[in-house]
Amino acid sequence: MHKLNDPKLLKNFSYINGCWHSSASDITVNNPATGKLVTKVSNAGTAETELAVKAAKGAFKAWAGKPANERSVLLRKWFDLIVLNQDDLGRILTLEQGKPLAEAKGEIAYGAAFIDWFSEESKRVYGDTIPAPSSDKRIIVIKQPIGVVAAITPWNFPNAMIARKAAAALAAGCTFVVRPATQTPLSALAMAELAERAGIPAGVFNVVVGDDAHGMGKVLTEHKDVAKFTFTGSTEVGKSLIGQCASTVKKVSMELGGNAPFIVFDDADIDAAVAGALVSKYRNAGQTCVCSNRILVQESVLIEFTEKFVKAVKGLLLGNGLDEGVTIGPMISAQAVADVKRLIDESLSQGAQLALGNSDTGFGESYLAPTVLTGITNDMPIAKNEIFGPVSPIISFKEESEAISIANDTEFGLASYFYSRDIGRIWRVAESLDYGMVGINEGVISNAAAPFGGMKQSGNGREGSKYGLDDYLEIKYLCMGGLDK
Ligand code: SIN
Repeated sequence: MHKLNDPKLLKNFSYINGCWHSSASDITVNNPATGKLVTKVSNAGTAETELAVKAAKGAFKAWAGKPANERSVLLRKWFDLIVLNQDDLGRILTLEQGKPLAEAKGEIAYGAAFIDWFSEESKRVYGDTIPAPSSDKRIIVIKQPIGVVAAITPWNFPNAMIARKAAAALAAGCTFVVRPATQTPLSALAMAELAERAGIPAGVFNVVVGDDAHGMGKVLTEHKDVAKFTFTGSTEVGKSLIGQCASTVKKVSMELGGNAPFIVFDDADIDAAVAGALVSKYRNAGQTCVCSNRILVQESVLIEFTEKFVKAVKGLLLGNGLDEGVTIGPMISAQAVADVKRLIDESLSQGAQLALGNSDTGFGESYLAPTVLTGITNDMPIAKNEIFGPVSPIISFKEESEAISIANDTEFGLASYFYSRDIGRIWRVAESLDYGMVGINEGVISNAAAPFGGMKQSGNGREGSKYGLDDYLEIKYLCMGGLDK
């Protein structure tokens, strides 16, 4: 029905302790491009979530005790199977999430890159020896897996956000329970099928799918056997999950909302800046935490940049992600479109101008035409909030210091971008931006080798890179005494 080479990758049950679990009721997974049913998935709840935590707890000792190179081999097999099935996984992802097929396959490669990366890093969990303050002592530091990791992941990257967390957790020797977004469980379940085929033991990787966000979230954040909780999603939800984790003092890592500035200085290569802004803004129909949220352009290049940018945005092809040539798909839901439209309307009523878009797409209520707004000021709601949609608000500025002050005037601190060819300015601005990630003359910054994460209310912890294992490890200090004769 869905033209998969391997129809067995389309799963309808939660995956707990190596078994597929059915429940009394179902949730429906609909294609945001058409509104039509893709498939139904058994609706798990708190009982299944408890079962998954128990399974992860039961599997922990043996998994943590495996030599790192054995864990590495299993992760590598998982990576190989994901790459081998990239076409099917990409198709499943487009069906449930909406992004264009080429972009969906790109996400599968992006997610797989974390599994590849951490299969290698698992062999490099080094400890330390530290000179002791007295001659009869030695100080040794070892790193050990923290235990059961619970995760809640979003619908915007149904594969990569799980891969980025699970690969690091499993590499460190932790076991893992994930509750994927209810809208997009199929990619997670396909990953579980491939984990099983790779030989990852029962209980090490568990996926619970269900619509009881509150109840399942409570189990994952409050269960005494969960040692660490990790979340990717909105700042608002992240804050309340951090609160829930407090009762058991869990280690948490949070990848939360963003409000990325994209600054174009007057010395920039304007064509390069246009290309960077296009990809940074319209990737995944603007539904990423690292999307440019505010485009800041120096007054002297404002007209040139805006004209070229509008022309480039006009070149995007909106449509069903499975159709040939489509470069921007639907948003996740009609509600998401309505929320973004409200921000556009508020901006227009407060004096912004419509340079492009905000028009009827003819495709249905889950679609929003790529939109560009000019005359935006940083106090408008569209500049204060994470838009999470295909809208570019353009703000003009006069001086470098003004750009930095506008850029930092937000509670968020995830990604930021700027374009300049002045080496002095590049260092000044890079060091002044209060963001965990800075793209300099570059609109695509995410990759497995780099530390992904934010400052301020955009979260804590880093995913990917050599730092990515730290969130899943305990540092233990061994003090050896009585060594003098
Ligand atoms: C996100 O939007 O949460 C992740 C984006 C990325 O990994 O590039």
